[in-house]
Amino acid sequence: MKKIILVSVLSALMVACGDTDSTKTGSAKDIVGQAVEATKEVVKESTEKVAQAGTTGSIDKKAAVAEAKMIAKAFGGALKSELKAALKSGGPVNGLSVCNKQAAPIAKQLAKEKNALISRVSLKNRNPLNVPNDWQKAVLEDFDMRAAKGEDVAKMGFAEVVEHEGKKQIRFMKALPVVDVCLKCHGANIAEDVTAKLAELYPEDKAVGYQKGQVRGAVVVIKDLN
Ligand code: HEC
Repeated sequence: MKKIILVSVLSALMVACGDTDSTKTGSAKDIVGQAVEATKEVVKESTEKVAQAGTTGSIDKKAAVAEAKMIAKAFGGALKSELKAALKSGGPVNGLSVCNKQAAPIAKQLAKEKNALISRVSLKNRNPLNVPNDWQKAVLEDFDMRAAKGEDVAKMGFAEVVEHEGKKQIRFMKALPVVDVCLKCHGANIAEDVTAKLAELYPEDKAVGYQKGQVRGAVVVIKDLN
């Protein structure tokens, strides 16, 4: 059941982002709207499952983790579809401009709809706004250590519930592995035109020289629980 819904989430995203033969790219609002609608069902389902399973305290945490996971997935999926569509229609330099312009509005729109903070962070960040804070840095370092020991980055995640300014808060991070397509803009042999555009947009870029299988960074979802 869950799998079927996830497939429909992804296809909704692909269609929303022009991953069919059209070259049109949807607005952040359209993309996120469809992603959120589709993920809602999955969240509801996982929440119900958790409710059957445990005591009150852990229900809250498990349900919150399930929701945070889905938000991270929706964000990652929306970005990936945008990137795919952009690469298809205009190559990496075009993809760069799309990442540059779309990542923040997609995060913002989804954050508004889900009442959460959503961001991407990296120990070697490209955008100066994507520097991790202390706890995020510790989690990223842990992801790197686990990757070095051979753990699959695609499956790495972190979740904790903390008291923050008098409120319970869920903190969730999902590791983002370097796969082939990432190397065009984050690898060791980047095309000249891409390098030139990167230098123009991100003079302090640290996000190059990566190899397949490494941790590129993580999606972060933070949400107050009460
Ligand atoms: C077409 C070029 C391009 C490709 C391909 C690409 N990225 Fe990026 N990436 C960027 C740009 C540009 C930014 C900065 C976005 C911004 O300003 O917020 C970025 C930022 C990021 C960030 C946020 C942290 C930071 O460094 O600022 C993460 C995480 C990330 N990319 C992961 C990936 C992963 C994983 C892949 C492969 C699935 C990938 N990227 C493929 C261009 C690309």
